[in-house]
Amino acid sequence: MKQLEEAILKYGSAINEQVLKVDTFLNHQIDPNLMYLMAADILEHFKDKKIDKIITIEASGIAPALMVAYQLNVPLVFFKKATSSILNEELYQCQVHSFTKNKDYTLTASKNYIHEGEKLLFVDDFLANGEAALGAINIVKQANAEISGIAIIIEKSFQPGRERLTAEGYDVYSLARIKQMAANHIEFIKNE
Ligand code: G4P
Ligand code: NA
Ligand code: NA
Repeated sequence: MKQLEEAILKYGSAINEQVLKVDTFLNHQIDPNLMYLMAADILEHFKDKKIDKIITIEASGIAPALMVAYQLNVPLVFFKKATSSILNEELYQCQVHSFTKNKDYTLTASKNYIHEGEKLLFVDDFLANGEAALGAINIVKQANAEISGIAIIIEKSFQPGRERLTAEGYDVYSLARIKQMAANHIEFIKNE
């Protein structure tokens, strides 16, 4: 998406070859107009899919996911991160390992908000190794719900997340796909 790529080039900084800082418009300060345009682009891609709810993971997924939910007029459910898993009949839980942050957390969702048969669009800010998305998918499967698609704001295409998700048959739509990066240089893969 053109406006997002322009924002990344103008405000983003590659702090090394692996990590992109976009605190100016996505991860700290948030640009609502850009969020609005990105949500519209995501919904255009998934317009033929049935979507009952949007799902994401706290914290940074919530802003883009809320815009998508608002425009589609469906609820947003964000999965929470807990430091430990506890025996709890009311929760779906899944262990997730973050390579970027080198830590583990337990992804949790209340059984009250995800139901059997629901069609869910997963929205997140970054796709790196795909661990968070696979954890969310695991929870959706526990609920006997279905994934309508996966929408990502920034995909780091040099990391294996996209391939792992498409290998399982999911429709992964990323608004910006970074082929490679270094200080003062960010190269995109064009969506056809
Ligand atoms: P993965 O799920 O695709 O395997 O990614 P990974 O665990 O490596 O990412 C962990 C966290 O780091 C996620 O945020 C993810 O959004 C974020 N992240 C990954 N790569 C980048 C990057 O290049 N730039 C930025 N700014 N963030 C990145 P999180 O821990 O879930 O935290 P939150 O910010 O959503 O609260
Ligand atoms: Na995130
Ligand atoms: Na993040």
